[in-house]
Amino acid sequence: LVEAGGPDLDVEPDLAQRDVVWAELAPKLYAQAAASQWDPATAIDWDAGEPLPDDLERAVVQVMTYLVENEQAALVVPARFAARVHPHFREVVQLLAIQAADEARHVEVFTRRAALRGMALGTSGAGGRASLQTLIAEPDFSLASFLLSVLGEGSFLNLLAFLERHGPDPVTRQVARLALQDEARHVAFGLAHLEHRVAVEPSLRARLRAAIERRHDALANTAGLNQDVFDALVVLAAGSWEPEDVGLGFERVQRLERDMDEGRQRRLARLGFPPDETAELSALHTRNFM
Ligand SMILES: [Fe+2]
Ligand SMILES: [Fe+2]
Repeated sequence: LVEAGGPDLDVEPDLAQRDVVWAELAPKLYAQAAASQWDPATAIDWDAGEPLPDDLERAVVQVMTYLVENEQAALVVPARFAARVHPHFREVVQLLAIQAADEARHVEVFTRRAALRGMALGTSGAGGRASLQTLIAEPDFSLASFLLSVLGEGSFLNLLAFLERHGPDPVTRQVARLALQDEARHVAFGLAHLEHRVAVEPSLRARLRAAIERRHDALANTAGLNQDVFDALVVLAAGSWEPEDVGLGFERVQRLERDMDEGRQRRLARLGFPPDETAELSALHTRNFM
């Protein structure tokens, strides 16, 4: 019962239709997210491990720098949408809010790992920022969820698993593992929402396809993944600058890119894209991963 005479609130919840925001999984995912919050002060053993050689530490710091700016974009997108979803869909608002809180924590732990040995942060590449800008600029909830959660955070699941496995120090491995757990939920919600929406509105697939193509075209003249980040991933997975190790590191990063591609194709197939299109669309995804 709304008493007459009060002002309209400044926040306009224009996402007010169920199918435009909903996923059956939302209440369960929110409960899971609330139960899985972790405290950076105690969940990570910040004192573990010995200092790395400088060139290896520099590679870790560059990767962390890249993660921080990607997490920052991943925070802004759900935070903005949280203000636009009608409060009737409470669980979706809660999920977006806790997702933003997850990303804020990821920004924190990656920043703290970067600063752990007092080295200056690495480079934020122009191509990477161009890629993130196209994410932040997407005004449609389902399209943003597709580009960010299904494709971008989906690819990050592989990246974080890679860092958990090949990180040269315990703190890097721990921060990657904890962020990975949260990201799996973000991907699950994006995927569940889009499965729901394509089921009631099959023509959405054409718009999803167009969104990937539009983003690809917008980024065609940019470098994509910063070369410093690629090199840092190779060195990090190599564990040293010895030619033999660097060769192995390079192979591992190639393997990572194949794993990301397979993961994207699997998720596209779940949304009903036929096999020839999943390969084509996955290949058009930003080279920045996110
Ligand atoms: Fe994150
Ligand atoms: Fe995320």
